[in-house]
Amino acid sequence: MTEEQTPEEHAPLNGRSSTGESRERVSVTAVAHGKINLHLGVSDLREDGYHDLHSVFQSVSLKEQVRLVEVASGEEETMTVAGHDAHLVPTDRSNLAWRAVEAVQQLVFDAGAEVAPVSVHIDKGVPVAGGMAGGSADAAAALVAAVEFYFHRHPASNHLPAPSQQQQHAIASGLGADVPFCVLGGTALGVGRGDELASVMAGGQFHWALATDKRGLSTPKVFAQLDKQREQSSQGMRPDVRAGDTAELMRALISGDPEQLAPTLINDLQAPAISLMPSLRATLLAAKKAGALAAIVSGSGPTVAMLCRDAEHAVDVATTVSVEGKASATTTCSSPAGAARLLDGHDETSSHS
Ligand code: C5P
Repeated sequence: MTEEQTPEEHAPLNGRSSTGESRERVSVTAVAHGKINLHLGVSDLREDGYHDLHSVFQSVSLKEQVRLVEVASGEEETMTVAGHDAHLVPTDRSNLAWRAVEAVQQLVFDAGAEVAPVSVHIDKGVPVAGGMAGGSADAAAALVAAVEFYFHRHPASNHLPAPSQQQQHAIASGLGADVPFCVLGGTALGVGRGDELASVMAGGQFHWALATDKRGLSTPKVFAQLDKQREQSSQGMRPDVRAGDTAELMRALISGDPEQLAPTLINDLQAPAISLMPSLRATLLAAKKAGALAAIVSGSGPTVAMLCRDAEHAVDVATTVSVEGKASATTTCSSPAGAARLLDGHDETSSHS
């Protein structure tokens, strides 16, 4: 899809600079990528409702684009969402991108400067509620864009010292456990809630076919289902299978060889995701039948990530699974991708894939 410029960007700004001159609206765009968990080990429930994780994240080429556009005082601040399944995304203040912008606005306010009102425009390329951190990527892109907007660009606040990396990390992790990884990108080991990150060496590019399911799955419900299954295990009603260590995975990542990576993929949330959405079993089987090297539920699901030999193989696998009717939609992507970053006026929305 081609990005549409928002109408207010062309309208003159009523606001005037401190010198009394009228000026162009400040507008900043950033992108952040979705992720796949190559390894997701989940420990027992903590008292704060979270679980300690041992997660190896890799960012994927699917991405979210967030644009902040200054609105004149008196104009309404709005949020618009375009792209994949845009209608499923809330546009009120519960949206994580809004919350990221508000956290940065709070810093500006606390520093005693005027907080310029903005509208937020999101262009989605990551499946909604798919276990690929689409909402977290919105928050990461909005955070990067808002820091640039207020601390480097807007004349009312660009004299303020920008928040440190630590401050930005604290904001990101307060927004959600996956947001810090969406800011960092690449390949990383995440511990704690998944927000304590260390970059990991990885060679080459991996190629994936993705089977999405438009029904989505709720992340808290999938974690709760895992707790329930573990409770059943403790009563001897089912085996307690948990992801082991990541030594083989780390070696495979350095080799860049998908055949070596395939047997190391593991996700403790896969069994609970399947029990909440049993049709995932058929999707995983269809992926294997279609020749994927490995197939795994991504994060809390329901997206199924199918590891392939190369980009062409990924298209073949995606097409076969799609023809079998085992997914709402299929697409392909590669990994790893990069960090959340600013766009200098370049439109990247047409390269979602
Ligand atoms: O941090 P975020 O809002 O993305 O997490 C959503 C939910 O996922 C949490 O409320 C919690 O139920 C579950 N979660 C968890 N342990 C983690 C990350 C998320 O239990 N490390």
